[in-house]
Amino acid sequence: MKYLIANWKMNLTAADSEEHVKLILKNIIPYLSRVNAVICPSFPSLAIVSELLSGSGIALGAQNCFWEEKGSFTGEVSPLMLKEFNVDYIIIGHSERRQQLHETDEMINKKMQAVFRAGLTPILCVGETFSERQLGRKDFVIAGQVESALKNIQLVNKKLLIAYEPVWVIGSGQAVKIEEAEHAVRVIKQVLIDLYPNLDLKNGVEILYGGSVDSKNINYFTSSPLLDGVLVGSASLDVDEFSQMAKIIYENLAK
Ligand code: PGA
Repeated sequence: MKYLIANWKMNLTAADSEEHVKLILKNIIPYLSRVNAVICPSFPSLAIVSELLSGSGIALGAQNCFWEEKGSFTGEVSPLMLKEFNVDYIIIGHSERRQQLHETDEMINKKMQAVFRAGLTPILCVGETFSERQLGRKDFVIAGQVESALKNIQLVNKKLLIAYEPVWVIGSGQAVKIEEAEHAVRVIKQVLIDLYPNLDLKNGVEILYGGSVDSKNINYFTSSPLLDGVLVGSASLDVDEFSQMAKIIYENLAK
């Protein structure tokens, strides 16, 4: 099985989401025996998407959450509120939130703890900016983000997804080479081994690549034994593209 996660970002109204999910359901059901498909719509679309996905084999994800369960936090949404809509996954620390909403490593750590407390699975996003890369700090940035996100967290009996998403590649239309994504996986695994010497890396932790994945390049990323799947933004908004990506993963895994 490989993950195919759709991050719809701030796109599609609830009505558009309904239409999209109906078409996706028509197309990708045959591939779900080898594809762990997850759709992460915006908050207002969660109710309708949750209803449509119920019993389909496609899981539901959210794009963000707050770290408290309830209280005076105007505009925020807690993991418990998301759980009510059968959300299983929550994207945490996406670079767009780190950059535009100024989410810090500390905030991301608190969100990770809250997601685990609610019994949900975080999709932790990590990745370097172009300037960090030019300064030769890429591996250091990735390792630091993983380490701080997991501070004070025990990974026993928990499921965790980590997506390596080079910030400069997101939305650029040009993904990194597979070797580069595989290198990042090794860096992330080393951090996990150092943090959790007894962790069984084959169980419970999945490492994905994200950044300009589409039907033309998904083959590289999902054929690699080091990568457990992909997190897709723009290309996931196109129903045909998304279905084609599911088909490619399915066919690849059959080989
Ligand atoms: P992209 O976005 O596929 O449009 O590059 C990926 C992401 O931000 O998760």
